[in-house]
Amino acid sequence: MSQVNDDKIPNNVHLADDKRLQRALEAWQPNYINWWKEMGPVGFQDDQVFLRTAISVESDGWANFDYVKMPDYRWGIFLADPVKDRTIACGDDFGKPVWQQVPGEHRNTLRRLIVTQGDTEPASVEQQRLLGQTCPSVYDLRNLFQVNVEEGRHLWAMVYLLHSHFGRDGREEAESLLERRSGDADKPRLLGAFNEPCSDWLSFFMFTFFTDRDGKYQLLALAESAFDPLSRTTRFMLTEEAHHMFVGETGVLRVVERTASQMAAHKVESPDQVRALGLIDLPTMQRYLNLWFSLSLDLFGGEVSSNAASYFASGIKGRAKEASHEDHIALSSSYAMQRFQDGRLTTDEVPLRNAMNEVLRDEYVEDCQRGVDKWNRAIAAHGVAFELTLPSRRFHRHVGIHSGMSFDRAGNLITSEEFAASRSDWLPTEADKTYVKSLMTKPVYDPKQMANWIAPPKQGIKGRPIEFEYVRHEV
Ligand SMILES: [Fe+2]
Ligand SMILES: [Fe+2]
Repeated sequence: MSQVNDDKIPNNVHLADDKRLQRALEAWQPNYINWWKEMGPVGFQDDQVFLRTAISVESDGWANFDYVKMPDYRWGIFLADPVKDRTIACGDDFGKPVWQQVPGEHRNTLRRLIVTQGDTEPASVEQQRLLGQTCPSVYDLRNLFQVNVEEGRHLWAMVYLLHSHFGRDGREEAESLLERRSGDADKPRLLGAFNEPCSDWLSFFMFTFFTDRDGKYQLLALAESAFDPLSRTTRFMLTEEAHHMFVGETGVLRVVERTASQMAAHKVESPDQVRALGLIDLPTMQRYLNLWFSLSLDLFGGEVSSNAASYFASGIKGRAKEASHEDHIALSSSYAMQRFQDGRLTTDEVPLRNAMNEVLRDEYVEDCQRGVDKWNRAIAAHGVAFELTLPSRRFHRHVGIHSGMSFDRAGNLITSEEFAASRSDWLPTEADKTYVKSLMTKPVYDPKQMANWIAPPKQGIKGRPIEFEYVRHEV
């Protein structure tokens, strides 16, 4: 069992044994706290929040719940325990021992992957920093902060790797991770979806469902890495990530549940009637879904990718749950890739290694569909005739073989004029955003209350009642 050392920086990596590394990270720590205070949740830094904190990486011991002020959160470095005699899971070196140090020839690639992953973590905290001021309940407020502090810890996870394995370059990258800002024109975050505003709670729930789920799949692929410290750190991050997706899935579910139940109770159908009740109508939910699903699909990268092929070949990145696949070399098979060329849909056989982004995206889409099915069951249970659907993966794409063309929701090629004409049916309009925000102008800080537009959760946190004072907020 790996013990967590309660140093200045909690860790299970024996940080105290490496004084140089410890000093470097302790020098980075105050900059991190400054970043948190400047860019973290606005207006709640002095409140006591009922949060879980890792105290060990064992399945029953890593989550310790207690009140803590967010700037005092014990952000630390936790790696899943090593797997004895672990071997490379895929690619040209399949079956050889994994690397405890970064091989020189893979140094730049690994650094770029770690920086790209690391950049998303503080980015999402920045995107969500104002949401506390419009929260639908104290329960939700606490969940937001739980997600935020854990994204902060994920930054720590990546910064640890940069500091411990990439020398001066790594330390410089760790500083830059605190300097870029989500949505900033001069110093934006590295990936598109992490520069989009996430300024209302419907967007937050869609983000944690769709965009955090991209994170889950990237982490699953990195958990297969031949670079063992990266594998171990991402395996532990996945345990935290599961909560973020729970927040998204149940968040959307509760909005859908509330709308559908009230549509049935008041016998109303049209979006205007639903809005008159102060609820989010289902077509608006669909437009938000279309937006966040398509933005999140872009995060997987190009469908045909020589980078993806070389990550797989070198064992740097595998597929999600690589062991569940049969052929870990993937040199003799191909992937049937559909694309539009000269206005016609064609199917190309792409070497499987070059299609690894698409393989990961396939699993992601399937996982998303599972959540959508759940939401639809909640709608149907109230006898409301409406189904949420995932749009085609060609719809509204800005990265890869479908970008630069226009498609309808079903994936049919259309002109950009046709897209523009239907845009307001498919993606949130300014009026939609204004309406959704108008429901959230008054935050709910009374633990006994819940905003009108969302159903209460099924249960509270860690055995506490739903009305528990999860955040002690002085108004
Ligand atoms: Fe994360
Ligand atoms: Fe997350």
